[in-house]
Amino acid sequence: MAENIEFFLNAKKISTNVHPAKTLLDFIRVDESLKGTKEGCREGDCGACTVLVGEINNDQLKYKSVNSCLYPIGNADGKHVVTIEGLNNERLTPIQEEFNNEGATQCGFCTPGFVNSLTGYVIEHKELNNIDAETSIAGNICRCTGYSSIKRTAENVVEKINSLNLESQSRIIALVERDILPKYFLEIEEKLKSFDIKPANKCISKSTIIGGGTDLFVQHADSLMNEDVSFAKNFGLNNIQVIDNECVVGASITIEEFKNSEIIKKHFPSLMKQLEMFASLPIRNSATIGGNLVNASPIGDSAIIFLALNAKLRICNNNNFRIINLNQFHKGYKTFDLYEDEIIEDIIFQLPTENEYFNFEKVSKRTYLDIASVNSALNISVTNRIINSAHLSAGGIAPIPLYLSETSNFLKGKGVSSETILDALNIVQSEISPISDIRGSAEYKRILLSQLLKAHFIKLFPELIDVEVLL
Ligand SMILES: Cc1cc2nc3c(=O)[nH]c(=O)nc-3n(C[C@H](O)[C@H](O)[C@H](O)COP(=O)(O)OP(=O)(O)OC[C@H]3O[C@@H](n4cnc5c(N)ncnc54)[C@H](O)[C@@H]3O)c2cc1C
Ligand code: FES
Ligand code: FES
Repeated sequence: MAENIEFFLNAKKISTNVHPAKTLLDFIRVDESLKGTKEGCREGDCGACTVLVGEINNDQLKYKSVNSCLYPIGNADGKHVVTIEGLNNERLTPIQEEFNNEGATQCGFCTPGFVNSLTGYVIEHKELNNIDAETSIAGNICRCTGYSSIKRTAENVVEKINSLNLESQSRIIALVERDILPKYFLEIEEKLKSFDIKPANKCISKSTIIGGGTDLFVQHADSLMNEDVSFAKNFGLNNIQVIDNECVVGASITIEEFKNSEIIKKHFPSLMKQLEMFASLPIRNSATIGGNLVNASPIGDSAIIFLALNAKLRICNNNNFRIINLNQFHKGYKTFDLYEDEIIEDIIFQLPTENEYFNFEKVSKRTYLDIASVNSALNISVTNRIINSAHLSAGGIAPIPLYLSETSNFLKGKGVSSETILDALNIVQSEISPISDIRGSAEYKRILLSQLLKAHFIKLFPELIDVEVLL
């Protein structure tokens, strides 16, 4: 089954027949003996294995950080993979120098991951700021230095690069001229464009579909090496479009692409911030929407968001397709309405009207870099203080990501008021039957969901809700 996979690893062209489900980390460290990329948790949690992946997107070369421990080499086909060895010049780069100057590296185990993440940020953003620089290294864990020196390093890098006034130049050229990137980067775009990438046949009967691999490679990295696999990214499902006032999201769109899409930013401005609570940037750069729905976790963040948007799924098998409501997709714990030879092609939902309001809430043990204990979303249409329609969803309170149909129906026709919320709390509590598990007791989850329902209304209609009544 092994097909030829071609990509650039730093300056070197790779052409290999290894199994496409081999992790990029193993290929880099074992097959290519590049030991700068470190292996820590193999679960996407520590960032020691972070590399950059460059690909042609809308005719432009774009780089992003990914966790190579969860990244199948098949997904690297046609791309540029950059490890710490591929950033090294004869001298330290200015970014490496800053780590050195600030004492931000001791044992050095985490440092290649940090340097890669920060370099990716500097390549991709023309206007740098401290907050975004910090976000770019979230997901990289250091056991030695303490984070203050690393934070100072990131701030120094921001200040230094901003002071160079590189805005008017092509970014890669400007960074090569300042020795921030090695010279071979200048040729990469042309080289990647010369790859002949063929779209894959969607007839994928019996093969395991890999999206970003961020779920599959945590659970089954070894067994995947014995399976026939296909890559969802090759099915051409990489667009977010508006068609007749419906938003059509290709299933291979990553969480980060969805978050940064101009369409999503325009219609759901709060989601950009809220989706920063979804894992770390390297995970969001790989994790796809389709993978999040089929992973079928009861607390999948995008499942909860799309349930509240009353989304539909376009499911395809060869040239046939069917459309189902997302709230009919998940059937029981980790079971769903998808045959072996089917894939999710698109997620489709109506764009909001001017009377429609959306909110997403997530409570987890840590604010960032954690899965939810309970999450919830509400999409509500209101005219003259009366609710025309409501779609409420919640995760962590059932074996599946749940659409709360009784509470949603109850809200229809009611006024937006604290009294309506108090009545809705009774309905929502009768509609759920959470169990105790490692994310919290059943009782705790009940309390959380009530608080999140209140939070939706308080955030969306602060002037209409008397918070005192809800205490
Ligand atoms: C460190 C870490 C943090 C995480 N944090 C969060 C979090 O905060 N919130 C959250 O919701 N999740 C989180 N996750 C879980 C995971 O990242 C997401 O569920 C992610 O969206 C899965 O997408 P993927 O493309 O990587 O899926 P994959 O692992 O590639 O696939 C998952 C499943 O989906 C199937 N699949 C993929 N695409 C399709 C398709 N188009 N059609 C049919 N089947 C398909 C695969 O066959 C597989 O069964 C986290 C994971 C890790 C490792
Ligand atoms: S080894 Fe820890 S994130 Fe990959
Ligand atoms: S310097 Fe040792 S883990 Fe970060």
